[in-house]
Amino acid sequence: MSAAVEVRGLVKNYGRTRVLDGIDLEIPAGTVLGLLGPNGAGKTTTVRIVTTLLRPTEGSVRVAGVDVLRDPASARQRIGLSGQYAAVDANLTGFENLRMVARLYGMNRREATDRARSLLAELGLEAAADRRAGTYSGGMARRLDLAGALVTRPPVVVLDEPTTGLDPRGRLDMWRVIGDLVADGTTVLLTTQYLEEADMLADRIVVIDHGRVIARGSAEELKASIGGDRLTVTLAAGQDPKPALRVLEEVGLGEPRLEPDGQEVLSVVVGEGTRTMVEALRRLDDAGVCVLDAGVHRPSLDDVFLSLTGSPATGDAEPETDDVREEILS
Ligand SMILES: Nc1ncnc2c1ncn2[C@@H]1O[C@H](COP(=O)(O)OP(=O)(O)O)[C@@H](O)[C@H]1O
Ligand SMILES: [Mg+2]
Repeated sequence: MSAAVEVRGLVKNYGRTRVLDGIDLEIPAGTVLGLLGPNGAGKTTTVRIVTTLLRPTEGSVRVAGVDVLRDPASARQRIGLSGQYAAVDANLTGFENLRMVARLYGMNRREATDRARSLLAELGLEAAADRRAGTYSGGMARRLDLAGALVTRPPVVVLDEPTTGLDPRGRLDMWRVIGDLVADGTTVLLTTQYLEEADMLADRIVVIDHGRVIARGSAEELKASIGGDRLTVTLAAGQDPKPALRVLEEVGLGEPRLEPDGQEVLSVVVGEGTRTMVEALRRLDDAGVCVLDAGVHRPSLDDVFLSLTGSPATGDAEPETDDVREEILS
């Protein structure tokens, strides 16, 4: 399979600060790559280089066979970009925004009108087509921005944190739209801080931190890479976790840990899930520990992230606010 996007040895320095330190990416045509990393990891910098908005210090990028650094103009024709620096005019309606973009790309009036109408329908914005974009919710504004990136039907679409700041409904709507794009054979480079989003949408995931790739693979491969199942035990409130930690250390494979969300939740990687759980519960009982709940689960991408970076991934999205909307529409 040929790669629709090929990034080799990307380095970006700002003065003496190196923000990208040798990023390699390959996205087979028709697949979704999730570029996953915490705030400041280098996601937007990577995306800006791939989409010709920024020149790297070192490295090369090819998009749909075009060398992005040598021929940025042709590369741009093959890429749709939608993200944090949205280009939506708040004073125009959704329809007018898209028609304007289509006209800028050289379509005649009739073509531009048809394309705008069909995109509004595809992205679930038909009902709001004739409202000023300034009145759109954050999720709608994001989808309108994405629609603008799709006007020319580019083979490669780049989405920079498409759901950051959206409420759960807005996020689901965006996921559906991205799913439709992929079903149509579009190649997608998607950045996200949300493990769940990468898990849901991406065929392959590349995890970056401090400008470096720290892991890559499918969600399943990444989960498998950190070992077996995880045993989680919840203690009655106010109990000293130390005796329980000792028991988990005995029955588990790695270092047991206290979950960040509560003093009473402990977990450890285990070899033989259910059997180990039974053994652990017996020993906890012997040690006089009062257990409220226990379970074994397959590792999540959160576990992967924690084991790779030593710190938990970014928490849940903040609820949609007017600030976000302003940022998108300004
Ligand atoms: N123009 C710039 N000058 C100096 N540092 C920058 C500039 N743009 C980004 N950075 C730094 O580069 C790092 C990566 O930023 P960015 O690519 O925006 O990360 P992400 O999108 O993953 O949150 C951050 O530490 C950021 O502060
Ligand atoms: Mg960013």
